[in-house]
Amino acid sequence: MKRVLVATGGGDCPGLNAVIRGVVKRAAQEREWEVLGSYQAFNGVLREPMELITLDEKKVSGIHVKGGTIIGTTNKGGPFSWPIKEKDGTWTTVDRSDELIRRLQYQNIEAVINIGGDGSQRISQGLYEKGLNIIGVPKTIDNDLAGTDFTFGFQTAVEIATDAVDKLVTTAESHNRIFILEVMGRDAGWIALHSSVAGGAEICLIPEIPYTVDSIMERIHERIVHDRGFLIIVIAEGAKPVGGDVVAEDLGQAGYEHKHLGGAASRLKKQLEDAGCQTDIRVTILGHLQRGGIPAAYDRILATQFGVKAFELILEEQFGQMVSYKHPNIIGVPIAEAISVYNRIRPDDQLLRTARGIGICMGD
Ligand code: F6P
Repeated sequence: MKRVLVATGGGDCPGLNAVIRGVVKRAAQEREWEVLGSYQAFNGVLREPMELITLDEKKVSGIHVKGGTIIGTTNKGGPFSWPIKEKDGTWTTVDRSDELIRRLQYQNIEAVINIGGDGSQRISQGLYEKGLNIIGVPKTIDNDLAGTDFTFGFQTAVEIATDAVDKLVTTAESHNRIFILEVMGRDAGWIALHSSVAGGAEICLIPEIPYTVDSIMERIHERIVHDRGFLIIVIAEGAKPVGGDVVAEDLGQAGYEHKHLGGAASRLKKQLEDAGCQTDIRVTILGHLQRGGIPAAYDRILATQFGVKAFELILEEQFGQMVSYKHPNIIGVPIAEAISVYNRIRPDDQLLRTARGIGICMGD
């Protein structure tokens, strides 16, 4: 039997299980292949004893409708920066990538499918350059990975954020209030922009366009007259004022490479109150609700397509490639290309133009 290993890395994301199921079902058609899962990204290979899970058709039956990942994930560490505790109690990281490759060879694993966002695909590229037969699959609710029209998980997050806007509208309208909804997305405003257009927010603040309090106050004065009126602001967690920085805390955990974003909405509330806003302001932070629960049909379909294609790229020995959706096709692109740029909203983005076209204030 030939063996392929599947790993899910980074934050979980709706559709991970549908990718796993797609790989397993496609591999089952090629009788001589066996699929294994590594528990919690590559940790399952690097731990002693190893934590490898056999993934057969029975195991993946019906999992495409489930959120999360049946093989677990982590967004800390990885083979190139494995956290270890020093004798003095401090944490440091070591490179275990060569050992990982040796362990995979020892297990007779011929190829690896690494499902993850930009951090995971950087790991994929590093391992590919060391000779590992690896295929990447782009995952993230943030949609910030380049080389593909969309990552799976994004549409589900947009549905959840849009549902939140819809719900806030009715309560905001009843109370003549301003609601600030903080959504995820890291350094890209895709979730904020899409849910603002879909939900009809008046103001949308994204990391790519630093905001001024004056422009927001101007819109508030247009919308709320003599204490009557309401307004929804969708703010991305990575949004910042002109000349300011993001609101973030450093969790100080070894191997956790990202800043922990959060608090942009509360900062904006204070900025508006300091600028003299008299209207009641309430803040809602959607947080991890955007990553949980049942994947939208769109993401189940895209994830299934990615899973099937990932296995087919292995059959074709197209290693070092990441599966990608380039409408209307599912293709392979070099992982190196996908991680070479961060997928931000460009000034000429079509949906950004649409947002401005329907009068959404972008804070500039
Ligand atoms: O990348 C996905 C994401 O949900 C971001 O939108 C968010 O900033 C981050 O992960 C949160 O990470 P954690 O799960 O470590 O809190």
